[in-house]
Amino acid sequence: MKIAIIGSGHVGLVTGACFADLGNEVLCMDQDLNKIRLLSRGEIPFFEPGLEELVKKNTDKNRLQFTSNMEEAIQFSEIIFLCVGTPPKENGEADLSAIEHVAEAITPFLTEYRLIVEKSTVPVETGLYLHKMIKQNLKRNIKFDIASNPEFLREGSAVRDFFSPDRIVLGVESVRAKKLLLEVYKPFDVPIVITDIQSAEIIKHASNSFLAMKISFINLVSQICSKVGADIERVAEGMGADGRIGKSFLNAGIGFGGSCFPKDLAAFTRICEKLNVPSTLLKEVIEINEIQKINFVNLVRSKLKTVEGKNLAVLGLAFKPDTDDMRSAPAIDILTQLQAEGAKIKAYDPCAIDEAKKHIRDIKFSKNVYDACKGADAVLILTEWREFRDIDLKRLKKTLKDSLIIDGRNLYDPAEMKKNGFKYFSIGRN
Ligand code: UDX
Repeated sequence: MKIAIIGSGHVGLVTGACFADLGNEVLCMDQDLNKIRLLSRGEIPFFEPGLEELVKKNTDKNRLQFTSNMEEAIQFSEIIFLCVGTPPKENGEADLSAIEHVAEAITPFLTEYRLIVEKSTVPVETGLYLHKMIKQNLKRNIKFDIASNPEFLREGSAVRDFFSPDRIVLGVESVRAKKLLLEVYKPFDVPIVITDIQSAEIIKHASNSFLAMKISFINLVSQICSKVGADIERVAEGMGADGRIGKSFLNAGIGFGGSCFPKDLAAFTRICEKLNVPSTLLKEVIEINEIQKINFVNLVRSKLKTVEGKNLAVLGLAFKPDTDDMRSAPAIDILTQLQAEGAKIKAYDPCAIDEAKKHIRDIKFSKNVYDACKGADAVLILTEWREFRDIDLKRLKKTLKDSLIIDGRNLYDPAEMKKNGFKYFSIGRN
């Protein structure tokens, strides 16, 4: 199939490269000339495991190409996937200006039937709105369909997630659109949920909000555990063993971040408000996430008496492992607060240092764990990178001033840390 991807960011590029790998001819379009130049040279502007190899393999085979020319993209393709950003506005609502802009830009080049698919996360009824907008602006009576095919890719495992999804959601309004999308997803042997466009749009927002709710729920329970000396890991294990609850997304920590959960929760809240549906549950999910960061700062302060003038070694800055993404990373709020109280920060992250420089000021950066921890009054673990699990604890202990580790991601076994002579504190386990 011939596929155009409009918007070659994280979602667009992963989707395009993966579709090409399935044997489709894919043309990725982006208005950012610089990005297109980079991609044409095989350079990926962000970190995503496995993506560079996939892009190279498929550009070498001429199945994946890049352009900044909208007309070329529309004429080339049978199906057009919209993968542009929908960032939050000040009031939390999704900003649809990029989608609107693309819809306007596509319309003059529609000379025969095209299927236009929303991949970007959009508020419910955006499909309807797009349909109206394009129909109004079309000069001739050209047939087209809108469809919704939300992505559920996680940063850091996006390529793997694309090829092994739990399900594929297709929101369609015609038999033709359904047939085309089923053809695109023919290689997948997974459940396919076929529904109307509005339901598909809601599935995306509701799924992300629900996952965020699980995290906030377990974080709330972790606060109870801290107060009574229970162990959140065992509590989560006991809860997750119930098939109705499930094990995943019950890891307590310093809260969720990233480009999706905070934005999608805010947008879903706004949708509720507009439709006069109570949004208190969603607001509480957001609130608990904020409190979890404050609790962590409180924990650090309480273990050091004061953070003023203290040297803090920070391991991990990205909002989660295997990405350099710092958007809404809990590290930003936590470190900014500790700095405001007079702490001096030296940090190490395997991947996110360049991005972190754009979000947090006055941090010293180290090239490895041991350099970051040298002479530190305390070590704070803010991202659960695999390499931190394999730290040489004896070597680490020698570099520290007071063997104090405050772990925001519950990376280590408290008993083992005690055995190794550390003063070790984590989330909901002490
Ligand atoms: C999420 C969705 O999972 C994905 O389906 C959607 O397409 C995009 O948004 P992503 O933001 O990449 O993906 O990361 P995810 O792995 O879901 O983690 C989000 C945040 O939750 C991270 O900050 C992570 O550290 C945190 N988290 C996750 C927890 O604190 N505890 C958990 O148990 C799981």
